[in-house]
Amino acid sequence: MRITYIVGTRPNFIKMAPVIAVLRGRLPDSRHAIVHTGQHYDRLMSEVFLEELGVPAPDHMLEVGSASHAVQTARTMERLEPVLIEERPDLVIVPGDVNSTLAATLTAVKMGIPLAHVESGLRSFDMTMPEEANRIVADRFAEYLFTHSEEALGNLRAEGIPEERVHFVGNTMIDTLVALEDRIRAAGAAAAQGVTPGEYVLVTLHRPALVDGPLLGETVAQLAALSEQMPVVFPVHPRTRKMMESAGAAQAPGLALIEPLGYLEFLSLVADAGAVLTDSGGIQEETTYLGIPCFTLRDNTERPVTIRAGTNTLLGLDPAAIGTIPAALADRDGSSPEPPPLWDGHAAERLAEVVANS
Ligand code: UD1
Ligand code: UDP
Repeated sequence: MRITYIVGTRPNFIKMAPVIAVLRGRLPDSRHAIVHTGQHYDRLMSEVFLEELGVPAPDHMLEVGSASHAVQTARTMERLEPVLIEERPDLVIVPGDVNSTLAATLTAVKMGIPLAHVESGLRSFDMTMPEEANRIVADRFAEYLFTHSEEALGNLRAEGIPEERVHFVGNTMIDTLVALEDRIRAAGAAAAQGVTPGEYVLVTLHRPALVDGPLLGETVAQLAALSEQMPVVFPVHPRTRKMMESAGAAQAPGLALIEPLGYLEFLSLVADAGAVLTDSGGIQEETTYLGIPCFTLRDNTERPVTIRAGTNTLLGLDPAAIGTIPAALADRDGSSPEPPPLWDGHAAERLAEVVANS
């Protein structure tokens, strides 16, 4: 069997590391080729994850870089097609919902190559999110849809996707966390950032709806106000850094802005946080697994399982709601819910079982 894995962004590496590792172990005589599209390219958005997660060096680097959606997607397709001609895979595996996912899906389907989609069936029902179109296209064309939560099957069923294509295997992003949990817990990143476990808010923000427009300035002002009550640690995504600089909002009194962090250091900060404020998809899940209160600065989430678990609260796309976090934390009962079903560190093994028996 010949398998090609296509990754391109920070969350992709984290979701695919266990899938690649388990399939390589399970099918040692098969060809396993990794394509890195280069959608993310800064060391702290890419290389550091491959190293920390033990992903083998990619066989093909497409180096597409940043561009508009159309140019980035088209460039990826253009550079991927000759690679797939050379690799002749029996199966292409793509994770998530980024532009690399969309480009890989369209390229594979046009070439008649079967596709597997990891993290299938998520829907925000918000077509203004670039990710929503990417997810829908990947799910529409995939022959293998690997889901991580019960809601996903309902979404796919409602779209008429044949159920025999859907496999509820669990959460491969949580596989990575479980595999590295001892090292995460030993990392002590809070001390390195000069904060006390349980007492700080960890922040990440990068969605265009929040950071590409007028809400960004007020968000930074609200974070500065929050930091007067609780220390705020804010590793800034490059998109957000760029927008803050062009909006003149990169300096806020009392607010420490730091570079994006590697996986172990970042997860150590999540595990020890008093709360997390984010608009990230993956971080809503990691806080749910770790039982850390998460406040999501969005109107919706494609991950309702995290709300159901009791760890995640939707604040709305409303910077003023940041001011409600200290009171909401004071009201919490301190109970720690169980992780959702099949968020147990073995999702990639279940996925590999399906692929190996296909
Ligand atoms: C992308 C995904 C988003 C995902 C996020 C994870 C799409 C449409 N969006 O958003 O779903 O949640 O990744 O982090 O695929 N940049 C750098 N260095 C890098 C990468 C990006 O400086 O290594 C800057 C560039 O200015 C670039 C901007 O960030 O224009 C946005 O990058 P892009 O990959 O287009 O989108 P993200 O916001 O990262
Ligand atoms: N992450 C990280 N360092 C950071 C911020 C995030 O390692 O400074 C990890 C985070 O724990 C999660 C993944 O990156 O595993 C999520 O990526 P991101 O928020 O960029 O993307 P999304 O999940 O929103 O698509």
